Amino acid sequence: MSHHTETIVRERYAAGAKERADKLCCPVNYESEYLKVIPQEVVERDYGCGDPTRCLRKDDIVVDLGSGTGKICFIAAQIVGPKGTVIGVDMTDEMLEVARRNAPIVAERVGYANVEFRKGRIQDLALDLELLDRQLKRNPITDAASFLAADGLAEELRIKHPLIPTDSVDVVVSNCVLNLVEPKSKRLLFEEIFRVLKKGGRAVISDIVSDEEVPEEMQNDPELWSGCISGALTEEGFLAAFENAAFYGIQILTRDVDPWRTVEGIEFRSVTIEAFKGKQGACFERNQAVIYRGPFKEVLDDDDHRMERGKRYAVCDKTYNLYKKAPYQEFFEFVDPIVDAPLAEAKPFDCSRTSLRHPKETKGHDYDVTTEANNKCCDGGSCC
Ligand SMILES: C[S@@+](CC[C@H](N)C(=O)[O-])C[C@H]1O[C@@H](n2cnc3c(N)ncnc32)[C@H](O)[C@@H]1O
Repeated sequence: MSHHTETIVRERYAAGAKERADKLCCPVNYESEYLKVIPQEVVERDYGCGDPTRCLRKDDIVVDLGSGTGKICFIAAQIVGPKGTVIGVDMTDEMLEVARRNAPIVAERVGYANVEFRKGRIQDLALDLELLDRQLKRNPITDAASFLAADGLAEELRIKHPLIPTDSVDVVVSNCVLNLVEPKSKRLLFEEIFRVLKKGGRAVISDIVSDEEVPEEMQNDPELWSGCISGALTEEGFLAAFENAAFYGIQILTRDVDPWRTVEGIEFRSVTIEAFKGKQGACFERNQAVIYRGPFKEVLDDDDHRMERGKRYAVCDKTYNLYKKAPYQEFFEFVDPIVDAPLAEAKPFDCSRTSLRHPKETKGHDYDVTTEANNKCCDGGSCC
């Protein structure tokens, strides 16, 4: 798709900011308690397809990609509370105007101001378009030399004054926007989501996906493009895009059974995906083991650790700690070594293969204790 596509998307949503456009929305039941403080013009110009705010927590720093008139940001603001922060990013001036005009109204009603809206393209979250605008007004592009200088200026702004800095965000949310980004920028888009998240952060994204590849004729239809159809990834492709950007623990949180639209036999429906950042880093041996509880016979994680149900596996300290948190913890039993191996003295661990861990390794090879029966097990007399 060409740059023309982005112009069409911008024009269509500029119109959608001024007046409700029915065709652009896929009805969602947002939690009504959060809608009470949000002005009607924001609520009615809802072009979402899911509700990624359900996964937010108090104090989170949140970025909403393609924030539109601001509804998701205003819901998020109430969940994260006064110590949290919410930043909406959108490229369409008319959307930003409605969102910014309503932010003080919501702030007054909730009693604190923790939302702001910034102008940028979500596939280039480092470039602050308003800052660039101001600079270009002072140094307009009039010839090839000033065009190249502007390119250099944009690069400098990305580094010195990023719209969203690297490793700065707890949760990236988005509601029905990723599909609007042209195919050649999709990879960059997922990389940008990854970049801005802190280690341990997560993406919770609602979007439209297709059950089959979208054929080229359909991709070239501008009406279908801006209507969240042409640029949809397949269900499989959507998950793979997170995987390729080095996320882990990726899962489908919700998937509408009924398609939102069916076009020439291809079904388009809303899904909400969660994906985590933070599997990168060095692997150290601390004699820890994990046991996959089931119910499947075996599992494979995003670092290619393959584990059979019920067996004890050696894992590095990093994997051990990842498994202790969402989304994994309920699937594992954790076996700590009897004698702690301090991280500062730990040797490197070879994470490229999965190996079983003999119980003696976690207990120590000369462990030969004999004990009486543990009373805790027999409390109530039911188990022995
Ligand atoms: C379908 S609407 C969704 C709006 C909002 N998330 C909601 O739930 O109502 C898409 C929004 O994304 C914005 N948008 C589309 N492509 C974008 C891009 N590449 N960068 C930034 N914003 C974009 C549009 O201006 C529009 O406000």
